[in-house]
Amino acid sequence: MRLLVIGAGRMAANHAKAFKDIEGVELVGAVDPDPANLAAYVEAFGVPRTFTKLEDALDWGQFDAVDNITPDAVHHPTTLAALAAGKHVLCEKPLAPNHALAMEMVVAAQAAGKINMVNLTYRNVAELHKARDITASGAIGTVKHVEASYLQHWVALRDFGDPGPWLWRLSTGHGSNGTLGDIGIHIIDFTTFAIGQPITSMNCRLQTFSKVPGDRIGEYVLDANDSFIISAEFGNGAIGTIHSSRWASGHSNDQRLRVYGEKGGVELSHGHWGTLLRVCIGADVATSTWREVSAPPVRTNYQRFTDAVHSGVQEDPDFRHAAELQRVLDLALVAGRDRQEHQIPS
Ligand SMILES: NC(=O)c1ccc[n+]([C@@H]2O[C@H](COP(=O)([O-])OP(=O)(O)OC[C@H]3O[C@@H](n4cnc5c(N)ncnc54)[C@H](O)[C@@H]3O)[C@@H](O)[C@H]2O)c1
Repeated sequence: MRLLVIGAGRMAANHAKAFKDIEGVELVGAVDPDPANLAAYVEAFGVPRTFTKLEDALDWGQFDAVDNITPDAVHHPTTLAALAAGKHVLCEKPLAPNHALAMEMVVAAQAAGKINMVNLTYRNVAELHKARDITASGAIGTVKHVEASYLQHWVALRDFGDPGPWLWRLSTGHGSNGTLGDIGIHIIDFTTFAIGQPITSMNCRLQTFSKVPGDRIGEYVLDANDSFIISAEFGNGAIGTIHSSRWASGHSNDQRLRVYGEKGGVELSHGHWGTLLRVCIGADVATSTWREVSAPPVRTNYQRFTDAVHSGVQEDPDFRHAAELQRVLDLALVAGRDRQEHQIPS
């Protein structure tokens, strides 16, 4: 698979490192309007061709697939252009700024008949798949109650960058849906994947906290949400809270999920320090004894995308799944504004 990277910023380094270790992948080019970012990327990863405009790369055309790692609002136009040129697409999350634009990407990918995947990174965590297997096996019985969080601390550290990868995340005018769009999508996927149930209704509180005098840095108005709390009902009637913040001092990037069923519980924590999956089931319920569980390795999204392009068989998570998540995020923004309970349209 000859791969073109679109967007040679911070996350693109992770993608290059991951694809370098996958057999049958050649990183043949990179596109970025910022020459300094392009130069740094070439220096780090030895990419043979570079372009400051996607159109020039598409005119050249000597690649099979694109890896779209642009800022959130740029995913939609660049992905549509790549699909129209007949390229497979791995796109970063969130797929688009809203469900309608995400669905345009779903339709375009289907019409083009190309592999389409979205990089929901935590699908690479083996213990998440094991947690899903445990809940699906019935070992904890019907799930009743869920508690999930995704905590980061970079706003508390005042680590905004100028403009860098962080400032656009704070500004709705630059296409960000704040913490909800940036990491809310991860923890909603983490939760619903683990319990095998979609969110069917929700309330949401969103908060944007003042960060600098005037809440503006240059052209960036710092108006995107920093924290959210969703109270949700799931498909089987279970309820739960899902919350997230960029002000969580002491947590650089930590996810936690606790799932309780009528026969036991599963708890999963993941962060830079590692991953811990533990269960309390069977006779252990009576004594509140938790036991650590190991998980066999899983293929990463990068490997799955490569396999899908080679085999021609679509893999998960695909654009349609990302669009469904976007529907939940859109509704959370509405619920955050009107403080009402909202049903997810079926
Ligand atoms: N899956 C994950 O865990 C994860 C983690 C971090 C970031 N991300 C996602 O990755 C994407 C990029 O984030 P980042 O932190 O690397 O941001 P970044 O700002 O460091 O990098 C974005 C790059 O895209 C370039 N760019 C802007 N417009 C472009 C265009 N039209 N064509 C080509 N390049 C363009 C910018 O110049 C910059 O170099 C975002 O969508 C973000 O949500 C995902």
